[in-house]
Amino acid sequence: MRRAVYPGSFDPVTFGHLDIIERSAKMVDELVVGVLHNSAKNSLFSLEERVNMIREMTKDIPNVRVESFDGLLVDYMSQIGANIIIRGLRAVTDFEYELQLAQINHVQNEEIETVFLITNLKYSYLSSTIVKEIASYGGDISKFVPAELIDRIYAKYN
Ligand code: PNS
Repeated sequence: MRRAVYPGSFDPVTFGHLDIIERSAKMVDELVVGVLHNSAKNSLFSLEERVNMIREMTKDIPNVRVESFDGLLVDYMSQIGANIIIRGLRAVTDFEYELQLAQINHVQNEEIETVFLITNLKYSYLSSTIVKEIASYGGDISKFVPAELIDRIYAKYN
């Protein structure tokens, strides 16, 4: 059974993330979307909200499971029996951080490999931070996130 984890903050999930989920789910038997519970990071959405949004948006992909995790990614992966990490690469600017993450994870557990998917060109500019910035000014976010999530995002700024 080839089980991979796509880890992240997903605060909130965007079309860019959903594109990576759809594409990577085709490459493995099971894809676990691992939503990081990071108490140090001030997230806009609670852990439960972030998990639920991704669950709703991926309900039609049978081999995708959405869970939260706390602590080190490598420990979580050992617990659930996964050895592939999926990450999206948007541009060269992502590379340095992603390389470091992949290497640190591999040093901690040599069985773990990171697979990078190149973000679809049409989402290469997109990030959760950009979505939040635009929403905070009441701007149009319909090109960045699914329609079902738009009101939930605006509601955080009212
Ligand atoms: O969406 P993000 O915030 O870029 O995702 C970062 C994430 C969740 C992949 C990374 O912060 C992570 O794996 N955190 C868990 C703690 C850990 O294992 N850190 C890596 C070694 S320092």
